Amino acid sequence: MKEWKIAVVGATGLVGQTILSIMEERNFPVSLLIPLASERSAGTNVLFRERKIPVEPVSDEALAKADIAFFAAGGAVSKAYAEKASQSGVICIDNSSEFRMEKEVPLLVPEVNASAWQGEDLIANPNCSTIQCMLPLAALKPFGIRRIAFATYQSVSGSGLGGLQDLEAGTNKTYTLQIQNNVLPQIDVLLDNGYTKEEMKMVNETRKILDLPDTPISATAVRVPVKYGHSIVVQAELEQPFAKEAIQDALASFPGIKVMQDPDYPTPRMAEGSDTVYVGRIRKDIGLDNGVTFWVVADNVRKGAATNAVQIGEMIVEAKDD
Ligand SMILES: NC(=O)c1ccc[n+]([C@@H]2O[C@H](COP(=O)([O-])OP(=O)(O)OC[C@H]3O[C@@H](n4cnc5c(N)ncnc54)[C@H](OP(=O)(O)O)[C@@H]3O)[C@@H](O)[C@H]2O)c1
Repeated sequence: MKEWKIAVVGATGLVGQTILSIMEERNFPVSLLIPLASERSAGTNVLFRERKIPVEPVSDEALAKADIAFFAAGGAVSKAYAEKASQSGVICIDNSSEFRMEKEVPLLVPEVNASAWQGEDLIANPNCSTIQCMLPLAALKPFGIRRIAFATYQSVSGSGLGGLQDLEAGTNKTYTLQIQNNVLPQIDVLLDNGYTKEEMKMVNETRKILDLPDTPISATAVRVPVKYGHSIVVQAELEQPFAKEAIQDALASFPGIKVMQDPDYPTPRMAEGSDTVYVGRIRKDIGLDNGVTFWVVADNVRKGAATNAVQIGEMIVEAKDD
């Protein structure tokens, strides 16, 4: 198998660090690691395969040395560097929301829509909450999906290291209100339609990934004082009456999902450190015709970001090795 020169932009951050761990765990074929971050990280090192590797400030020149670059440093950094790098032949896998809704940029969850990648050099990794809901909804797609509603309970690690610091210290540097002993029904900025940007990401990204351009979808995104793991209530209206067992079977046989049966259910503490998407509390919705409601939990930093990005990398490496 060919070995690849890999840049990680944001290598000192939560997602960047996790990308490094996951590449180690999954034995990603790395011949050279190029860890990049801001000027603030000059003089620091990252640890990769038991070697200390110096972090460099991100630049076009540093990126040009890579075959594949994982971007995990926020939208502004992706905007400044990713498109340009991809145009000069570096395959860029971007964790920010900067390019997700661009028509020519595939937005990938490998278990769900790998075929949306047609060899493009710029690929977007979806929003963390979106990723974990795509697996169960893709499993239900053969039943016909008429409408979807999401309610999220998102951990503070979704805001990076700053979110974890606010929860631990009781500060509100990352959030406008204190998150300790609190629940905040706002993630990202409020938009003119009364939804937040995070909620509209879930709506629009779901439509793109599942190829459901006209399906009515609503979302409410809430930050909770949990360190790792997002929990999401998904309510879906299906086209036809269904047997609950058929839904359970479809979910249980989908790759990447583990179904938990009543009276057991998944929690974020349970999902922390895992790459599995856990589904529980599956029930026929008594308030909706042909409605099904369930609870989806996953580690947002792993499957919701780093693992999904590395899986995209694996898909590309495999295709290019053929
Ligand atoms: N956390 C999640 O669950 C999650 C899930 C999905 C997607 N994402 C996305 O992943 C990205 C990273 O998030 P995170 O949670 O890892 O954040 P984080 O812990 O705050 O880390 C941010 C990283 O970006 C680097 N960075 C910041 N400004 C930079 C600049 N001007 N130039 C170069 N590097 C810069 C930082 O480097 P320094 O250490 O040098 O400051 C650090 O390595 C974001 O786009 C986020 O939306 C996060």
